[in-house]
Amino acid sequence: MEELQEEIRPPRIGDPAPAFEAVTTQGTIKLEDYKGSWLILFSHPADFTPVCTTEFMAFAEIYEELQKRGVELLGLSVDSVSSHIAWVRNVEEKMGVKIPFPIIADLNKEVSLSYGMLHEGESKTATVRCVFVIDPKQVVRAIIYYPLTTGRNMAEILRLLDALQTTDQHGVATPANWKPGDMVVVPPPNTQEMAEERLKQGYECKDWYFCMKKL
Ligand code: BEZ
Repeated sequence: MEELQEEIRPPRIGDPAPAFEAVTTQGTIKLEDYKGSWLILFSHPADFTPVCTTEFMAFAEIYEELQKRGVELLGLSVDSVSSHIAWVRNVEEKMGVKIPFPIIADLNKEVSLSYGMLHEGESKTATVRCVFVIDPKQVVRAIIYYPLTTGRNMAEILRLLDALQTTDQHGVATPANWKPGDMVVVPPPNTQEMAEERLKQGYECKDWYFCMKKL
């Protein structure tokens, strides 16, 4: 008889981030340790692989920019903590890049399964390249999935964080290809009165539903 496996529903945008306590390269870490900070929890397929190595060096390169934005970084794969340690030592020795953030050793796949980081069609054993953006209230605010063969774009991750933080701070939305300094979108009106009112606010409006403003 087929084994009955409990279906785990991975988190979606707006869900509370699943709690965890995990062994990492910097000791045991719990999700709640990050309460009050933004957190990027990202998975990579495997240690000692070239695309992952380029990604780790790239994450290390933007680490200071993340810290400036109040964002912590936490990596994960299903490799052991010894493997993670050996790999980060190798990256420092051979590539001259120090990895300043912790990496979860998710050997029993508990965290990967609860976050939906294992995509069987892509790999039966390795986590795909996921990025979970978790806000200070520990709500999942954005999710990015990339396949094993494509390294992630750090500029886009920073842009996404800037957009989320701007949205929260100013109650606005950000248009396609937005970057800090660009105009933002005024949220669409909910009533006819609001639609008419906003046309008098000095926004740059293409029409009643489509208004932009400078911050
Ligand atoms: C890499 O990081 O280079 C890699 C990992 C898994 C599959 C393909 C490439």
